Amino acid sequence: METIRTPSIMKQTSRRLQMQGRSVGLVPTMGALHEGHLFLVKRARMDNDIVVVSIFVNPTQFGPNEDYEKYPRETDNDIEKLIKAGADILFAPDVQSVYPEGFSTSIEVGGITKKLCGLFRPVHFSGVATIVNKLFNMVTPNRAYFGQKDFQQTRVIETMIADLNMNVEFIRCATVRESDGLAMSSRNRFLSPEGRAAATTIYKTLSSAAEQVKAGVPPPEITEHMNEALRAEPLVEVVQYAGVYDPLTLDEKKASGGSSLLAIAAIIENTRLIDNIVIEV
Ligand code: PAF
Repeated sequence: METIRTPSIMKQTSRRLQMQGRSVGLVPTMGALHEGHLFLVKRARMDNDIVVVSIFVNPTQFGPNEDYEKYPRETDNDIEKLIKAGADILFAPDVQSVYPEGFSTSIEVGGITKKLCGLFRPVHFSGVATIVNKLFNMVTPNRAYFGQKDFQQTRVIETMIADLNMNVEFIRCATVRESDGLAMSSRNRFLSPEGRAAATTIYKTLSSAAEQVKAGVPPPEITEHMNEALRAEPLVEVVQYAGVYDPLTLDEKKASGGSSLLAIAAIIENTRLIDNIVIEV
């Protein structure tokens, strides 16, 4: 596996490979890789001649009181995992080369960024859209892979690609879970064993809500049950949102039927965890 740290070299390399007729798949990450990321790499491996994985802890998507400094950075470990998963290129630029002095442009996707996580993380999606746009320009991928755990992020990127006529095929991959259902996340490591056990309440709540959706229970009632179940777990410090939403608009659903996004954001031991399930009835 080759490691590239300079945006201009990444761009030249992709261009050369694509001129040879080779397709390039990009898996954007912030590192601290787990099986969820490696699943994206394996999927990209199946679809493309060349697989590029980017590792960049993007400062612009963290708010002032969020965990940018604390976010785990373990590139040596990540490199070993990427070699085993079959990645061809690791693109790991430094902050200075991505955001040089005087950088002053940002991408704002309207509407859906103001809901759910956007209500609690006002700068987050603008930071995500900006860095993903920049990664697309630096890597020029034919396809890009994102995990469903960050469902709202996937909707934001999908919308940006469509709105800006970007030449990238967007691929959303299923959430990878631990054996007890907890969605894999780089932030799970911040939990104590007690917090880790309490975190399983998130997937349990989503799963029982999914049964209620299938049984035709009205969404407002399901939302109430979800909030009650989460609040019954003493280690859940804050429930930022929990409910039944329209997967396209991310608005709360009032009536049963069609597609439903069941989504939760909760804080356990000062760690913000998110998860979701999408159900078609
Ligand atoms: O999901 C992530 O890890 C990040 O938000 C992403 C897409 C790599 C952008 O920094």
